[in-house]
Amino acid sequence: MAASPHLVDRLWPDPATGLALDDALASYRPPRVDGRPSVTINMVTSVDGRAQVDGTAEGLSGRTDRRLMRLYRAAHDAVATGAGTVSAYGAWLGIPDDLVRGRRPLSVVIAGTSPVDVARWHGGDERRLLIVGAGNPQDPPSGIELLRAHTARPDPRWVLDRLAERGVASVLLEGGPTTNAAFLAAGCLDEVCWTIGSSLVASDALPMIAAIEGGSPFASAPRPGSLASVLRNRDELYLRYRFEPAG
Ligand SMILES: NC(=O)c1ccc[n+]([C@@H]2O[C@H](COP(=O)([O-])OP(=O)(O)OC[C@H]3O[C@@H](n4cnc5c(N)ncnc54)[C@H](OP(=O)(O)O)[C@@H]3O)[C@@H](O)[C@H]2O)c1
Repeated sequence: MAASPHLVDRLWPDPATGLALDDALASYRPPRVDGRPSVTINMVTSVDGRAQVDGTAEGLSGRTDRRLMRLYRAAHDAVATGAGTVSAYGAWLGIPDDLVRGRRPLSVVIAGTSPVDVARWHGGDERRLLIVGAGNPQDPPSGIELLRAHTARPDPRWVLDRLAERGVASVLLEGGPTTNAAFLAAGCLDEVCWTIGSSLVASDALPMIAAIEGGSPFASAPRPGSLASVLRNRDELYLRYRFEPAG
């Protein structure tokens, strides 16, 4: 029996009700940026903007958001995650066959100074790339390409250059908040896909993007974005914002 479709209302643009989520996303394409792969963040938060519950994102959203996450993954050339997320929750690309168009995205983990427990990174048919900082004592993992940066923590622009060499034109960055902040600080953030779950957390958990180390250039001059799309399923909202490349 075929699975029932996830239905959404499109609130903006072109309002429509009862659309199949897959159809609502059919025309989605990642941004295209001159000179480097584009970077789209995909994150879920509570109503009050927290990206963690008990140390993971579990429970912040439902099944429709998981399908949406897979649709976004399938649309990108690479899907990247920070090492903190792998230790907190693990990583698995998990794109169902019906969503794979051509090849599966490259699965990327970005680590800094500490080794990654690759047993928590579950692989399938996709290529996997582990990027680590210069002094990271990581052993080369079996079946995973290991790339070492020249700095203690890989510089996001350097990461994007290495991904471009591997044919990547678009990256879906799935957190965590610290890695998101590093890409924003480096001027490499072009789109934000933001699911707002319907709960309140009111803890000191991290938000979607952590505070930028050394101070945020946007603290007194917020970076403007433009709203590209708003979808809704029951009590959840799925927002998408585009940001012009930083000058
Ligand atoms: N709500 C959501 O949608 C969502 C999505 C993803 C994750 N999460 C949650 O977020 C939490 C993990 O987030 P996190 O912010 O702690 O970890 P993270 O962003 O996943 O990883 C941070 C680590 O990445 C390494 N790193 C590599 N390059 C870096 C750079 N240029 N700048 C800074 N760090 C770099 C550092 O490791 P070293 O310290 O070893 O140098 C750093 O500690 C978990 O609770 C996870 O469940 C939520």
